[in-house]
Amino acid sequence: MIWLIGNKGMLGQEVEELLKRKRLSYLASDKEVDITNYPILQEWTKNIELAWIINCSGYTDVDKAEKEIEKAFLINRDGVRNISKIAIEKQAKLIHISTDYVFNGKKDTHLSYTEDDKTEPINIYGKSKLAGEREIKENFKKYFIIRTAWLYGAKGNNFVYTMLRLFKERDVVKVVEDQWGSPTYTVDLAGAILKIIEDDSVSYGIYHFTNEGVASWYEFARIIYKKAKRLGLIEDNKEVEIQPIKTEDYPTAARRPGYSVLSKDKIKREFDLKIRDWDKALEDFLISLKENREYLESRVEKC
Ligand SMILES: NC(=O)c1ccc[n+]([C@@H]2O[C@H](COP(=O)([O-])OP(=O)(O)OC[C@H]3O[C@@H](n4cnc5c(N)ncnc54)[C@H](OP(=O)(O)O)[C@@H]3O)[C@@H](O)[C@H]2O)c1
Repeated sequence: MIWLIGNKGMLGQEVEELLKRKRLSYLASDKEVDITNYPILQEWTKNIELAWIINCSGYTDVDKAEKEIEKAFLINRDGVRNISKIAIEKQAKLIHISTDYVFNGKKDTHLSYTEDDKTEPINIYGKSKLAGEREIKENFKKYFIIRTAWLYGAKGNNFVYTMLRLFKERDVVKVVEDQWGSPTYTVDLAGAILKIIEDDSVSYGIYHFTNEGVASWYEFARIIYKKAKRLGLIEDNKEVEIQPIKTEDYPTAARRPGYSVLSKDKIKREFDLKIRDWDKALEDFLISLKENREYLESRVEKC
């Protein structure tokens, strides 16, 4: 049996779709089975044999975390400790999702971060996620920690939906040009997670997964606009100017790494994975939105 934690989140919903499609036996939970409450987790898993736990839950509001420090650590560190204790009790393997924000983003811009690079988070969210990684590593061996970045997908608030809304509302959209990363489609990450399970892998450890390629937020926005326009997701007579700005001109509560591109060599090698370029994955996502316009309108309103 597989236990999917965080099945109402953006990534969790995509993983659940895939579990269903592949007809795998699973249980799923979200906030109603609070990961910060160990007895509840014990009760929930009582009499159930678990082979895998997939943890897609977490405290994910990067800016709010700067104020809600205790809550961020409670969920991202203590909650993860509880999950790993259950994994030990059940002798289950754990797949846990972490982040590029464990790095400071100051690595030479021609080099991507490997799993062995020094971690040095520069905001509370990154620190709490790194603390969660440590809880797992200190507790047991049968883990796959997957660090990812810049996620977007159909089922959550994300940058793509925000841009599509702004392209509707404004004539000029300003986007940060000096933060670099790899936009990543939840569908592709969900596929990688399922591949690890289907391989019944024992190649435990930390892995990096994003789509291939590198972009700044500005570049990402420009390509969303270009593709959305071509696919008819933006009205023909609506022209939007996208202007590059510097991070210092877009102040946020949390500092963000300037360059957080992750090397995928290890996960590709270990699981024989082919990873798509981010703009190809984006194209697929936008096509799926075109096919479901009503859903798109309702989502874009919220972002
Ligand atoms: N989004 C990104 O760009 C990104 C980048 C790098 C890494 N990640 C990591 O990827 C994972 C999935 O991200 P996501 O964007 O899919 O996150 P998400 O949409 O925020 O989903 C997280 C889910 O966990 C739930 N949750 C929060 N506290 C919980 C608790 N105490 N017990 C049980 N469930 C709880 C949330 O419920 P509520 O919404 O009701 O709080 C939500 O349904 C996270 O670990 C995140 O840190 C995300």
